Amino acid sequence: MTTIVSHFIERLQGESRVPGDKSVSHRALMLGALSIGETRITGLLEGDDVLATATAMRALGAEVTRLDNGTWQVFGCGVGGLAAPDDVIDMGNSGTGVRLLMGVIAGQPVTAVLTGDASLRSRPMERIMMPLREMGIEFTAAEGGRLPLTMSGPPDLMPINYTPPVASAQIKSAVLLAGLAAPGETTVVEAVATRDHTERLLNHFGAEVRTASDAAGAQRITVVGQPELTGRAVEVPADVSSAAFPLVAVLIASEGQLRLPAVGTNPLRSGLLKTLTEMGADITVENATDAGGEPVADLMVRASKLRGVTVPADRAPSMIDEYPILAMAATVAEGSTHMAGLAELRVKESDRLSLIAAGLKACGADVEEADDSLTIHGNGAPPAGGATIDSHHDHRIAMSFLVLGTVTAAPIRVTSAETIATSFPGFHDLMNGLGADMRIENNENQNQEDAA
Ligand code: S3P
Repeated sequence: MTTIVSHFIERLQGESRVPGDKSVSHRALMLGALSIGETRITGLLEGDDVLATATAMRALGAEVTRLDNGTWQVFGCGVGGLAAPDDVIDMGNSGTGVRLLMGVIAGQPVTAVLTGDASLRSRPMERIMMPLREMGIEFTAAEGGRLPLTMSGPPDLMPINYTPPVASAQIKSAVLLAGLAAPGETTVVEAVATRDHTERLLNHFGAEVRTASDAAGAQRITVVGQPELTGRAVEVPADVSSAAFPLVAVLIASEGQLRLPAVGTNPLRSGLLKTLTEMGADITVENATDAGGEPVADLMVRASKLRGVTVPADRAPSMIDEYPILAMAATVAEGSTHMAGLAELRVKESDRLSLIAAGLKACGADVEEADDSLTIHGNGAPPAGGATIDSHHDHRIAMSFLVLGTVTAAPIRVTSAETIATSFPGFHDLMNGLGADMRIENNENQNQEDAA
């Protein structure tokens, strides 16, 4: 178990490329495995979650090789061509990994057993089983529709027309990936658009995917089944969800500025940038360009005086992973920040809504938690800090409180911080390289302290 303690600093300064986008990395490996020929991926996130997906693709018969730092090569087996795994597939902590994998496996006439760590085994999988059952897959799952589960696919899948009960790119992607193997057209209808990396990459690999808006503003995303996918080069942008941590750290510092190069700026992922700008953040977007079908840009960020805002519920899908770090910014802002439409935060790697509220209260902040919303009353100054926060296997909870610890007078200690490696390997070195003071506390010292 790793404990990291974050101490007060005045200033952050410099330039750092954060690791590759987790969502794009999972999808690039999966689509490579469903293609014929070579897929070469650069900038792949080598975090535990994505490594679990690489291992899963190998278990299904794809050839997956790490050539260099972040550069990976995949030779796939084609749509419907993957093999039956000969052992249980363990997806560790990764909700995206396991849910998209269910879509991939659905398109193969095989039986597979999937599991994960304690956090993943507590998360709902029924949302994926429901549409895949309609397509013809049989499931046996642990109580409450949880992992471990066994799935078996028939030789012929049925194409479906599906409206997910919650806004979720994972549900949409699982259905579209399964739809690749079905004859005819499979459609997902979304009332509020979610991240479209699957659609963009499917087009890039040669599938036909169409998105149309209806009169009520809903989106219909349709994939034409049984395409021949061809291996491609994929350049993974830096992950905006990871960039969010150094970005908020410099915003709330007394002084400093940072450049974060080549960050993914997909509009369906940019809700945090919009919200922070409304709060008065000094963020400039420079060198906007396109990397393998995804928009990227350098972000220039300067320490800023932030003020509270209301974040509307319909913005949640475009910043769903960023509420923990936004909550830290809101705590330091002047005035109240109200965030609505947060029910999904309760079923992430942890119950993020309650961990954010409890952790902030322990740090001395003024927070109101409701079923699906959070209100934080800031007074323009950091709270006292001095708390110990258990990550509960949640990387974003761990990183968020370590960022808050850079501005609190008393250090913030985060336990079970090893979970950060699921999405942001090297987080604490990168932050320290920019001027943070995050110290790994060795457990022996801790035990002695506890005994004293
Ligand atoms: C993701 C979708 C989101 C997000 C997750 C990554 C994806 O989950 O929270 O970190 O890559 O599709 P939901 O689909 O459950 O909203």
